[in-house]
Amino acid sequence: MCGIIGIVGREPVAGHLVDALKRLEYRGYDSAGVATLEAETGLTRRRAEGKLRNLEIKLAAAPLSGLIGIGHTRWATHGAPTEANAHPHATSRVAVVHNGIIENFRELRAELEAKGQHFASETDTEVVAQLVDWYLQQGETPATAVATTLKRLTGAFALAFLFTDHDDLVIDARRGSPLAVGWGDGEMYLGSDAIALAPFTDRVAYLEEGDWVEITRTGATVHDETDAVVERPIVTVSATAFQVDRGNYRHFMAKEIHEQPEVIGHTLARYLDLSASTVRLPPALPFDWAKLDRLSIVACGTAYYAGLVGKYWFERYARLPVEIDVASEFRYREPPLPKNGLALFVSQSGETADTLASLRFCKAQGQHTAAIVNVTTSTIARESDVIFPTLAGPEIGVASTKAFTCQLSVLASLAIAAGRARGVLSAEDEKRLVGALGELPGLVLRALRVEPKIERLARETAKVADVLYLGRGSSYPIALEGALKLKEISYIHAEGYAAGELKHGPIALIDEVMPVVVIAPHDPLFEKTVSNMQEVAARGGRIVLVTDEKGAGAASVATLETIVMPDMPDLLAPIVYALPVQMLAYHTAVFMGTDVDQPRNLAKSVTVE
Ligand code: G6P
Repeated sequence: MCGIIGIVGREPVAGHLVDALKRLEYRGYDSAGVATLEAETGLTRRRAEGKLRNLEIKLAAAPLSGLIGIGHTRWATHGAPTEANAHPHATSRVAVVHNGIIENFRELRAELEAKGQHFASETDTEVVAQLVDWYLQQGETPATAVATTLKRLTGAFALAFLFTDHDDLVIDARRGSPLAVGWGDGEMYLGSDAIALAPFTDRVAYLEEGDWVEITRTGATVHDETDAVVERPIVTVSATAFQVDRGNYRHFMAKEIHEQPEVIGHTLARYLDLSASTVRLPPALPFDWAKLDRLSIVACGTAYYAGLVGKYWFERYARLPVEIDVASEFRYREPPLPKNGLALFVSQSGETADTLASLRFCKAQGQHTAAIVNVTTSTIARESDVIFPTLAGPEIGVASTKAFTCQLSVLASLAIAAGRARGVLSAEDEKRLVGALGELPGLVLRALRVEPKIERLARETAKVADVLYLGRGSSYPIALEGALKLKEISYIHAEGYAAGELKHGPIALIDEVMPVVVIAPHDPLFEKTVSNMQEVAARGGRIVLVTDEKGAGAASVATLETIVMPDMPDLLAPIVYALPVQMLAYHTAVFMGTDVDQPRNLAKSVTVE
């Protein structure tokens, strides 16, 4: 994780570095720091534990005026989030910021200590500064010192270097972690993503694996992993990709929850032809749904739960066997994959390290690969055979909301397309299902209307220590997602369970205190879930039922609260029912006073395994 930024500028850069870091805080916020080249003091750092405002306070007390600098916001991996471990790490000759992990740092540190280099932190990053410093001492230039160092590093990283006595040079490098280079007017920039560079420029080049770049005020020289000079295309990033303000909302998460009717609408417009009532996918898919033997869905976190709903849909509507796993397990168990298999990766950021590694594994195994991604310039997007973008816009809240429901909207569209291609769904079925999806934005909007009731419920939820979420069928992943959302941002322990599994363990937890949130639209499994609710009620449990009018009427169980969703076809329920669980988590966290958009210990883009 971590976010990095660099500016070779014409005016003092410290303020701009901090502004850019604010846009990268989603990548981690354990500590932050900047380094600039100062006229008086040379290579100078300011670093602070905790969020960026602490760094701003330090900079206000002791300003920097250098015209060139690098900056970092950290998600701690090696070493506690102290000031000493905060980036940039530096020697008298070089400073470095780093996103990723240097796996062989212990060996390198031992080697460098034996040579007399002195370390000041517990981080893996510092070996990079020390190694470059060592090569500089041996008479190498900054560029050759970096090139030699890169060949000695194992692991995944994005790095940026600033050198003493070189006031027109920043070098950066990428292996496994994203980096963009930005072209300004007599200024140049680098950053972990284009959003960080948005206030400065919309003209960026995305680096390829293994690239390293010498950046000066007038341009950039890109080298590939063999050190050969190469060209990377400069693209113009659309302005909408940069809209990251909170509007009138208190938190990004609230804004993103409320954006869902709109962004789901945008996303569906890309995949559906509503006038013809058909799904419209890219014309030349590199695989044939009808010939697939198996679909493997791989993802992490909330994106994994989207994939889990997708499994129910692909199996039901396309009779396509689906295997699904979290990427961190999938990549290491090296599953046997069928000859005609499609591997589908779901990722908001498109940079999640385990998901990316799984994609590479599947490619090496000869699978067709496809990705549902929100960031179309991401590494996963670029390395997949085909991408199915979600049009959620930038998602800033660390807890994913709108990206999730957009992922589900794409998965539903794909399942219908697969069903048609495999002869499971008739044209009539497709018409009915596509028509249903056309209603989705309106239904999501109506689901938002229960917010006042959920807010009242959240006041009570904020007082408990544990919450259990239950669901069956495609509501089961929503129970898992509800529990994940709650624990992520309110720090209340929560578990999601398949309702039928209640009796195999979690029923022992039922008491008069713990709320049991039951996700149960009135679908063919409703009666089964009612039986599970009765088991809870019989033991004095407190039930919060999320259902529709029909379900509320038929539940025949006393509830603490019943949240009523509009009536809708089964296909849509997991998407619409995601909203009440998102809102419950959000308002509970607000009552608890936690940092909703940047919950402790988490980061939005997880580029370490
Ligand atoms: C982190 C985020 C989650 C996200 C997961 C996967 O844990 O906090 O919100 O679901 O990573 O991220 P991806 O970008 O691959 O969807």
